Amino acid sequence: MGYNKENFRRIREAFATKYRTARERADRRLEEAWAAVPGLREADIELSRVGLEIMKAISAGGDTAAMIAKIRVRNEELQAKRSKLLRAAGYPADYTDLQYDCPACCDSGYADGVMCECMRRELIIAGCESSGIAQLMREQNFDNFTLDYYSSNIKHYEIMENVLTTAFRFANGFSEVGSGNLLFIGGTGLGKTHLSSAVAKRVIERGFDVLYVSAQGLISDFERERFGGGSYSGDGRDVGRYFYCDLLIVDDLGAEVTNQFTVSCLYNVINTRLNLRKSIIISTNLSKKELESRYAERITSRIFGEYKILAFAGTDVRRQKLSQK
Ligand SMILES: Nc1ncnc2c1ncn2[C@@H]1O[C@H](COP(=O)(O)OP(=O)(O)OP(=O)(O)O)[C@@H](O)[C@H]1O
Ligand SMILES: [Mg+2]
Ligand SMILES: [Zn+2]
Repeated sequence: MGYNKENFRRIREAFATKYRTARERADRRLEEAWAAVPGLREADIELSRVGLEIMKAISAGGDTAAMIAKIRVRNEELQAKRSKLLRAAGYPADYTDLQYDCPACCDSGYADGVMCECMRRELIIAGCESSGIAQLMREQNFDNFTLDYYSSNIKHYEIMENVLTTAFRFANGFSEVGSGNLLFIGGTGLGKTHLSSAVAKRVIERGFDVLYVSAQGLISDFERERFGGGSYSGDGRDVGRYFYCDLLIVDDLGAEVTNQFTVSCLYNVINTRLNLRKSIIISTNLSKKELESRYAERITSRIFGEYKILAFAGTDVRRQKLSQK
């Protein structure tokens, strides 16, 4: 899985801290209870002795079952005694127990060698935040993308049905490499950004590292890196992520200023990712012709040669929504 590496490192560290904190708290409470509850320490010493006996019985072999059953009864008696002592002194019976946020993995993040649901959830939340469109994904996703807005024209409807199916399949079948690239092309308000956001959300939920950026934002980041003297880490967006994230979404290509520098940045990202077989989704308002006259051939030939072109159709949904209000 391609979880964002920085998030992964940070969350693993947070889990390790959580685990350590739980242990330290239990240790502190035990010290406190031993000092305050007469007989508790002795009961605990006895309990650990019983634990040792179980181990010994197992390693000695022979009729271990009967032996262990006997020791287990003694263990339960001692546990009951310990609870009683604690309660009598005004403590809850589980006061000195290790208390984890997630009992399934004891806050280690893994259970039986596989990543626990609790850690996966944390990674997804962090993935949304580092994708650049956390808010958008809450509002624009597959659940509320409807074909109704295209239904006044059967041809448009069929085109958009195909666009939706293709995007949906792309998101659900996405893998780190070799998933191909998409170009969302079409007029304003037809759902290009909405569908990009939907794909991003689904792909993040499936455990991949997604980065969403407007073409202008991408250029600004490269400019800052160039003029900021090398390794840029200003607002947290490292341009390296444009090359190594699992899925890059570049929205609104054509809305940025175009010059030699910006074209070379775009070329770099597009070409490197093609070579690495890492996917990009590009959205644009420009037509094929406009793209060709605006960008160098080495860019457009790559896009039109290697990307699946999804031409959006219909009438401005932004307007349709306004007129419904
Ligand atoms: N099929 C749809 N179902 C529900 N809402 C939609 C749909 N298509 C678009 N919308 C909504 O209409 C608005 C405009 O859509 P969106 O921003 O995706 O258009 P766009 O194609 O990216 O336009 P632009 O080219 O201007 O960036 C958004 O609020 C979006 O949620
Ligand atoms: Mg848009
Ligand atoms: Zn867990």
